[in-house]
Formats: sequence, structure tokens, C-alpha cells
Amino acid sequence: MKALWLALLLLAACGENPVNEGENFGNLLNTSGGLVLTQAEHPTGWGHSECTLCHNLENIHLVDRTGITDIVAVHNRAISEGISGCAACHGTNGVP
Ligand code: HEC
Ligand code: HEC
Repeated sequence: MKALWLALLLLAACGENPVNEGENFGNLLNTSGGLVLTQAEHPTGWGHSECTLCHNLENIHLVDRTGITDIVAVHNRAISEGISGCAACHGTNGVP
């Protein structure tokens, strides 16, 4: 409960733009591999299969920055499939 109130307080403190846009790496299609991860653009996460160690599924796929997709559908699909579904769109991430 305490955490919820803190979250609401922080949200209110944002003033102008209280909408959570989640993680933002710009338009992924402008990167060398597009949606597919490469070691160069994913140095910290490369080789890890446990995506959710670092990415909160509730906090990604919130804003369409590529203009190619129904971001709500992607958001919901990632949550329902979990980490076994990521590779279909983002490649293997260096995981054999
Ligand atoms: C150890 C932490 C960690 C793990 C595990 C991890 N990531 Fe990441 N991810 C990051 C960080 C940090 C970034 C920001 C770019 C960078 O500095 O590597 C990022 C960025 C991304 C991006 C944006 C890439 C771009 O082109 O800007 C995507 C997509 C992504 N991760 C997907 C995944 C997927 C899918 C998995 C699991 C297969 C995963 N990540 C596992 C830390 C991680
Ligand atoms: C149906 C295809 C699809 C699946 C499945 C998918 N993603 Fe994505 N992901 C995308 C697209 C498309 C974008 C770029 C969104 C945009 O900007 O329009 C993206 C963007 C991202 C980003 C960059 C931050 C952001 O919110 O834009 C991260 C991190 C990421 N995905 C991680 C994951 C992880 C982890 C999984 C597995 C749990 C996953 N994705 C599953 C298509 C997918």
C-alpha cells in the first residue's frame, strides 16, 4: 500500500506529462539490426535469456515509435507469451 501511495505521489509530481511512456530507445528501426538485437546495440543485455531481469514487461511497448505496429497488441502479446516470445521479434540476443 505504501508503495502505491508513493507511486501516485511521484506521478502527481510529474505535472505536465503524467503519462508513463516506458523505456525509450527511440525508433528501433533506425538502428543497424532494426528490431533484431545486436551485440553492439545491446552490450549490457547480450547473451542473456532472462529478459525480465532488466526489462519490466509492464514498462515496455507503451509508445509506438516505429510507426509499423499496433503497440497495444505487442504490449499484450509480450506479457502473455513472456520471455519465450521475445525472440520472434527481437532475435536470439546471442543466446544459443
Ligand atoms: C542485464 C540486463 C539486460 C537483460 C538481461 C536484457 N536487456 Fe535489453 N537492454 C538492456 C539495456 C541496459 C538496454 C539499453 C541499451 C544498452 O545499453 O544495452 C537494453 C535495450 C534493449 C532493447 C532496445 C535496443 C535498441 O536497439 O536500442 C531491446 C529491444 C531489448 N533490450 C530487448 C531485450 C530482450 C528481448 C532481452 C532478452 C532476450 C533483453 N533485452 C535482456 C539490458 C538488458
Ligand atoms: C510481436 C513482436 C514483439 C514481441 C513478441 C516483443 N517485442 Fe519488444 N518491441 C517490438 C516492437 C515493434 C518494438 C518497438 C516499438 C515501437 O517503438 O513502435 C519493441 C520494443 C522493445 C523494447 C524497447 C523499449 C520500448 O518500449 O520500445 C524493449 C526493451 C523490448 N521491446 C523488449 C521486449 C521483450 C523483453 C520481449 C519479450 C518479453 C519483447 N520485447 C517481445 C516488438 C516485439
